Amino acid sequence: MFDLTGKTALITGSSQGIGKAIAKCLADNGAKAIIHGSSSYEKCRKVADEIGENTAVAIADLSLDGCAEKLYEQTGNADILVLNASVQFRRPWDEITGEEFDKQVRVNLKSSLELIQKYAPHMQEQKWGRIVTIGSVQQHKPHKDMAVYAATKAGQMSLVTNLAKQLAVDGVTVNNISPGVIATPRNEEALSDNEYRNIVLKGIPVGFEGTEEDCTGSVLLLCSEAGRYITGIDLIVDGGMSL
Ligand SMILES: NC(=O)c1ccc[n+]([C@@H]2O[C@H](COP(=O)([O-])OP(=O)(O)OC[C@H]3O[C@@H](n4cnc5c(N)ncnc54)[C@H](OP(=O)(O)O)[C@@H]3O)[C@@H](O)[C@H]2O)c1
Repeated sequence: MFDLTGKTALITGSSQGIGKAIAKCLADNGAKAIIHGSSSYEKCRKVADEIGENTAVAIADLSLDGCAEKLYEQTGNADILVLNASVQFRRPWDEITGEEFDKQVRVNLKSSLELIQKYAPHMQEQKWGRIVTIGSVQQHKPHKDMAVYAATKAGQMSLVTNLAKQLAVDGVTVNNISPGVIATPRNEEALSDNEYRNIVLKGIPVGFEGTEEDCTGSVLLLCSEAGRYITGIDLIVDGGMSL
């Protein structure tokens, strides 16, 4: 039910963090995993080699125009698309610059649409496909310094529900997972401050931050046959933080 043998999965932003863990999980369950990052081929190659032989590497900066075409030229069609890469500027709402606004919208929202436009037609043609976006607990629980980041994730969720309805007829499911606080390189520095970490942990009912692997089971479910009747959902993986 969870076997992905014969499927090709592109996981954006899989050079580290949650994306890397998702790529490893999908590969462990039979998929060919395409490891993607914005600039360092060597970094992605190392991750691919760690995961195993059934892997490939693709490089594209999703903040640049033409990024979807550039990525597609390197990968060809995929059966599974996991839109995980994102950028985040932690800044009070009244200090966010236009440039920071544009970059978050470009990478977190516009590239999601462009990549779906590129990769969905093959999925529709073969009457099977899986698209999973990675959102955030902040779609549900605001953080005062990440208003624009949260807005991009909420916008992406709107795309998910809209496209889920339209692509279902072609056997393509479109879902989102919303992680809570997950220990990744992105928040390593913030969580190394014990005072801040304790405040954060008080807001998480299970009492601990998640690991990158905590985000993988839900993605595997949504990408496999076990998830074929699930589309348009937001699966929250946050230890109860949004409650
Ligand atoms: N960590 C958390 O607590 C948390 C919570 C909620 C949601 N999330 C979401 O989960 C996802 C993964 O988060 P993470 O913490 O694992 O992130 P991370 O450690 O910062 O890794 C980000 C990944 O995205 C890639 N990336 C960044 N900018 C890019 C660009 N312009 N073009 C292409 N790729 C780019 C990076 O590749 P390069 O290094 O090559 O640029 C890297 O592989 C994100 O969507 C994030 O918003 C994370």
